[in-house]
Amino acid sequence: MRYLTFAMAKGRLAKDSLKLFEQIGITCEEMKDKDTRKLIFTNEELGMRFFLAKPSDVPTYVEYGAADIGIVGKDTILEEGRNLYEVMDLGLGKCRMCVCGPESAKELLSRNEIIRVATKYPNIAKDYFTNKKNQTVEIIKLNGSVELAPIVGLSEVIVDIVETGSTLKENGLMVLEEVCPLSARVVVNQVSLRMQHERIRDFLTKLSTVLDK
Ligand code: PRP
Repeated sequence: MRYLTFAMAKGRLAKDSLKLFEQIGITCEEMKDKDTRKLIFTNEELGMRFFLAKPSDVPTYVEYGAADIGIVGKDTILEEGRNLYEVMDLGLGKCRMCVCGPESAKELLSRNEIIRVATKYPNIAKDYFTNKKNQTVEIIKLNGSVELAPIVGLSEVIVDIVETGSTLKENGLMVLEEVCPLSARVVVNQVSLRMQHERIRDFLTKLSTVLDK
């Protein structure tokens, strides 16, 4: 039998998803070894393989069929814009994509002024301002600690993930607009969904029984 291959966004998401998998009898002991440098782990009995990848690479592996199934955040799915099927919301890692900034930036947003937007998610930010708001903005791509941008004058606002809101609060910033809710999703390769339909459907059915909706 052909392996069913899973690509998982490494970090807390992978850990929490693997806990869900265990509840439906999908285990991978090899993967729990913290010191291992191995990249791919196999469960021969189940005919399944698992690997951890950088979150933004997960949709790529799934689009090309190198992985049949991916577990990744909605933020990454939207930003990467790959051809794949999003089939289930795991409800893990719930947070929001928001436009944030100092209170003074509220006016700039409502007056539709040309503003600078710093973000790790240039595609999401561009789509939001161009298509939803019809506002011309300059997008500035950053790779982390985006909250710094409005503080040091790189941009007027940011588009970033807000979970507890404490990063914003500690830096004198606030949520100005919500772009969309986020959480971990199951994505599937388009050909795999047809060719491996029964196995994938069986996996998803089992998984849905342990999700608290
Ligand atoms: C994320 C996000 C915010 C923060 C939000 O950053 O980009 O900065 O978490 O969480 P909060 O609302 O609970 O404070 P992350 O820690 O992933 O690192 P980064 O700043 O380097 O992107």
